[in-house]
Amino acid sequence: MKITFSDLAIPSGGAVIAFATEGADLMPSAVALDEATGGSITRAIKASTFKGKAGQSLQILAPANVELSRVIVFGIGKEAEFDVIAAQKLGGSVTARALSTGEKEVSVLFDMENLASDFATGAMLRDYRFDKYRTTETKEDKPVLKSLDVATRDHKEAKKQFDSAKKVVEGVFFTRDLVSEPANVLYPETFTKEVMALEKLGVEIDVLDEKEMKKLGMGALLGVAMGSAKKPAMVVMRWNGGKKKDAPIAFVGKGVTFDTGGISIKPAAGMEDMKWDMGGAGVVSGLMKALAGRKAKCNVVAVLGLVENMPSSTAQRPGDVVTSMSGQTIEVINTDAEGRLVLCDALTYVQEKYDPRLIVDLATLTGAVIIALGHENAGLFSNNDDLAAQISTAGLAVDEGVWRLPLSPAYDKQLKSDIADMKNVGGRPAGSITAAQFLKRFITKDRPWAHLDIAAMAWSTADKEVVPKGGTGFGVRLLDRFVADNYEN
Ligand code: BES
Ligand code: MN
Ligand code: ZN
Repeated sequence: MKITFSDLAIPSGGAVIAFATEGADLMPSAVALDEATGGSITRAIKASTFKGKAGQSLQILAPANVELSRVIVFGIGKEAEFDVIAAQKLGGSVTARALSTGEKEVSVLFDMENLASDFATGAMLRDYRFDKYRTTETKEDKPVLKSLDVATRDHKEAKKQFDSAKKVVEGVFFTRDLVSEPANVLYPETFTKEVMALEKLGVEIDVLDEKEMKKLGMGALLGVAMGSAKKPAMVVMRWNGGKKKDAPIAFVGKGVTFDTGGISIKPAAGMEDMKWDMGGAGVVSGLMKALAGRKAKCNVVAVLGLVENMPSSTAQRPGDVVTSMSGQTIEVINTDAEGRLVLCDALTYVQEKYDPRLIVDLATLTGAVIIALGHENAGLFSNNDDLAAQISTAGLAVDEGVWRLPLSPAYDKQLKSDIADMKNVGGRPAGSITAAQFLKRFITKDRPWAHLDIAAMAWSTADKEVVPKGGTGFGVRLLDRFVADNYEN
């Protein structure tokens, strides 16, 4: 679907979307449309329960006096409450509806010109499909919508804003594509290949192979990779859009391309979900695409720890002790707590090599965070109140929720091992927090650090306004906003 902008005017044909506020008060261009159609809209409102509330809509097919195929009036609720997020959600809802009509072209009469770009952003976010493996889908099942035109007064300014916003959505789509891909197709080597496409946007990319990781002493990450025939990889991306002297911001992503649990194998039911256990690395990749796409004025380094967690005769065993790159030893009590083993070496590497000013890691790390927060918020952990606040604020701004959970030495105690520096699990109580405490042990340079546990957010089983079911891309818009608001000048 192509999104265009044009001047505010009633088109001569096709489908038209217009709006009403609560109380079924028509917006100015809806009033004009009502007049042009001999009062079709006001008559339809009288005959219906439409009250202009957000989420409500009213359809009039083949309205009088015009060549339009249909008019759909959407409620936007109270005008004073119609903000950026509401505009994005409306764009998503309108798109979902437009896709279901069978129309090829839809025009939107959008009076709220300041929010036109946000409306378009929501529309684009909802218009995502991962359909490359559908070979027998009938024409009727495929969406036919070709274009959505947003007719608004200051359409040149709206287009300008949208051209930048679009780059971020393209980053979200990159993440969704990666997350949706099955694990027989996407594994460390092929993941690396996909990410290489970012080079043409100006992202510098290095890949560490197994041999180099061995040399660096990444025994924790390599221990996880041992059970798989697929070779691990560590991808390092750099975006240098800032001043040369500025230390970079670091993003680190868990990229377990499939998590069987290893020898501590998971139950069969739902194991297919573990194809998206590379969600953290997926978000970091999408974020780099967004930042490079819109030429963000900042220096960023991103590290992906890519491995597959499999059981086999070469797999690591419960009870094995591994030595991480930091030198700290880890007793692997449960091979299914593999994400932290991958991340700890990636965290050490990025600190030693790049001395970043701050570090944010993302991971589908624990089932426990789903129990704690449901699918409404990602778990946020940080050693720094300012950084935590910046991330929370960015989350609110883009409607990607995060909720901070505590860290403390009391939780850290749960990681005590009888034979090594630590265990890789802390027992059932506070499972997400002990996972975060584990990671914290590898933040050795006293830099601001935040960890986002996105296990509940990377995948959606239901359509939402701006997120169709499937891979969500949660975190790309949040961190893009976090960078834009705090680290670009
Ligand atoms: N990848 C999983 C966490 C996960 C679970 C992500 C469900 C998305 C949905 C992680 O590697 C894992 O297996 N964690 C274990 C840790 C436990 C063994 C301490 C868990 O959460 O059960
Ligand atoms: Mn696991
Ligand atoms: Zn995992």
